Amino acid sequence: MMVKIKWSRSLCVGIAEIDESNKQLIQTFNLIEKHRDDDVTAEPVSLVVEQMRKNASVYFSREERYMRNVDYPHYYAHKDEHKQFREKTAALCIDVMNRKKTTPIDIYNYLSGWIIDHILHADKEIARFVEKNRHASRHDLATKKAH
Ligand SMILES: [Fe+2]
Repeated sequence: MMVKIKWSRSLCVGIAEIDESNKQLIQTFNLIEKHRDDDVTAEPVSLVVEQMRKNASVYFSREERYMRNVDYPHYYAHKDEHKQFREKTAALCIDVMNRKKTTPIDIYNYLSGWIIDHILHADKEIARFVEKNRHASRHDLATKKAH
C-alpha cells in the first residue's frame, strides 16, 4: 500500500535549510503516489522519478555545503548516503526507460524507506552535532570569563 509521507515534527531536524530541503524532497516524492495505478513505463512515472533525482541533487549539495560550514566530522559518510540515493534513483530511471518490471510500489518502498531512515538518523545526527557544539562554545566563553 502506498501512503504519502506526512511532514511532521518527528521529521524536523531543527536546522531551517535542511528541514526546508527535506520538506521539498517529500513533496516531490508524494507525487509518485498519484501514479500508483499507472504502468511504471508510463511517462508521468518516469518524469516524477527523474524530477526526484534532480531535486535530490540540489538539496543534497545544499546540505553538504552546510556540513562543510560547520565542520561536520561525519561529512564523508553522510555524503556517501546521498550518493547511494542518487545512484539508486538513477538506476530506477534506467529501469523505467528499459521497461523493466519495476513497479511504482517498488520505487515507492525504496524511496520512502530511504528518506525516512536518512532524515531520522543521518540528518538528525548533524543537528545533534551542531547543538552539542553550541553548548561547548557557550561553555568555553563562560570558562574564559571566569578566568
Ligand atoms: Fe542528508
